[in-house]
Amino acid sequence: MVKPFGLMPKLYEIPFLYDLAFRRTGIGPHVDGLIECHKRFRHNHPLRSVLELAAGPSRHALEFVSRNYNAAVVDNCTEMCRYAAALAKENELTLNVFLANMRDYTIPNKYDLAMILLNSIGHLHTASDLRSHLFATWRHLNEDGLYVIEAHFPNWVDRTSLKRSSWLVEMKDLRLRVDFGTPDDDFDLDMLIRKVELHILGDLRGEEIDYQDYLILRSWSASALESVIVESEVFEIVAKLGALNPDIPFDPQESMRLVYVLRRLE
Ligand SMILES: C[S@@+](CC[C@H](N)C(=O)[O-])C[C@H]1O[C@@H](n2cnc3c(N)ncnc32)[C@H](O)[C@@H]1O
Repeated sequence: MVKPFGLMPKLYEIPFLYDLAFRRTGIGPHVDGLIECHKRFRHNHPLRSVLELAAGPSRHALEFVSRNYNAAVVDNCTEMCRYAAALAKENELTLNVFLANMRDYTIPNKYDLAMILLNSIGHLHTASDLRSHLFATWRHLNEDGLYVIEAHFPNWVDRTSLKRSSWLVEMKDLRLRVDFGTPDDDFDLDMLIRKVELHILGDLRGEEIDYQDYLILRSWSASALESVIVESEVFEIVAKLGALNPDIPFDPQESMRLVYVLRRLE
């Protein structure tokens, strides 16, 4: 997989590489936390169905399915949708996969709990896109349905906050080093939109991997997110957490995540 930069597919078009390089640990505890949020903030209704947006490999949705919940996922990348469907089939799970742009989408059915995880909300860049996304998600929720948004924290506020994150992925036959971002990334200070340069270097079953790409991500601040949510008038904020766990409140000094639990307004 060593090709001149520019001829490479985009990261999300190589789902197995994304899934290896960015695989999150703790999917089970995250799903426990999401179920607990539902119990706490929508206790008058049973939880039967979930919707994961910008779901990528859909590992959280698949965990819900393995616990006998109905799940649907939305992603706008064909390869990622095929990959999620293949993971479901391999594990004999039923996952409803929809290829759609989360900015505005229409899919069958309504859901009890929607979620967007791992800062995928950063793929929406403007207040108007976020507003349109909130309306679409509102339309797909049942009465009092919840929408959980997990953004990163602290958000990028100036050039000094642009750090490189690096990690190693080591498994049988696989060794990868992932560099996510550089301090020199292009950064639009007004919109807080960063061109995050990424580099994945290593060896998979004897084949060299030297892959570069970039992601364009908005770093939503709490105040920017909250103002769009409040102005939309379709959701109320019922909790602001520091993790996918209703027992961990958001703490600006300590938290690594900014998690909102929104409830659908009728
Ligand atoms: C960071 S990855 C997936 C992360 C996933 N939420 C997780 O927890 O592993 C972001 C995903 O968002 C998808 N995506 C980006 N922009 C999108 C859009 N406008 N509508 C739907 N999906 C989008 C990409 O194709 C990609 O699969």
